[in-house]
Amino acid sequence: MIGLGVNIDHVATLRNARGGDEPDPLSAAVAVYQAGAEQLVCHLREDRRHIQDKDLYLLKQWGRLPLNLEMALTDEMERIALDVRPALITLVPERREERTTEGGLRITPEYAGRTKKFLAACRKHKIRLSLFLAPDPPAVESAIQLGVDQVELHTGEYANLFPSGSYQDELNRLIDASERLARSRIRLAAGHGLSTRNLRPVLRLPKLTEVNIGHSVLSNAVFVGLDRSVREIREILNAHLSETERTSF
Ligand code: PXP
Repeated sequence: MIGLGVNIDHVATLRNARGGDEPDPLSAAVAVYQAGAEQLVCHLREDRRHIQDKDLYLLKQWGRLPLNLEMALTDEMERIALDVRPALITLVPERREERTTEGGLRITPEYAGRTKKFLAACRKHKIRLSLFLAPDPPAVESAIQLGVDQVELHTGEYANLFPSGSYQDELNRLIDASERLARSRIRLAAGHGLSTRNLRPVLRLPKLTEVNIGHSVLSNAVFVGLDRSVREIREILNAHLSETERTSF
């Protein structure tokens, strides 16, 4: 079974555009839950352009879906994360001027040292830690060395190329990285730019356990509603499950 995490940041982006309280991220969380997602994803950015601190606390308190908190590794975010205690933290690179998370983490020796310390703090608070990585062998190797709980492979480049011919090369890079991770004990997730159009090939990544999708789910929701939009992704995941069950006989 491949779990579905839905990123509801852009519900907050829309709310913030008017400064009021509509649409409400918590109501979106309820809809996402009822439509069959397994996880909520939020990115608390330094500039708070979408999800805000109070949203995080409310979503955690509601508690019907585990929370995957995306964040940069900064003093401020570490403090908030250890206070909120989401089920999972995904470390992402963050630049103020970017529109969305543009690439995977660069794991320099300094970054690895800081991650190691934060991993120990997460373990103490029973929070799982994930790293958002491009499918680059050295980055994957660093994650294995660090012994984090999960790696989320960045599918943005694949999604940008799909469905042109060269997306297959990027898909092969994702498959190679997944195979390397499958030989370790690290869980595999994938996310960024995924949609009903380009999701199916990604489901072939060995030992994939989770996909995290935001922009396409919310874009589609404008036309069909959030419930149906989440269900359309869920149906693709379910169809993949029955397909693999059939082929394993
Ligand atoms: N996973 C991670 C780690 C992300 O940073 C994002 C974007 O916030 C997503 C998944 C979702 O990407 P998208 O909005 O393109 O579906």
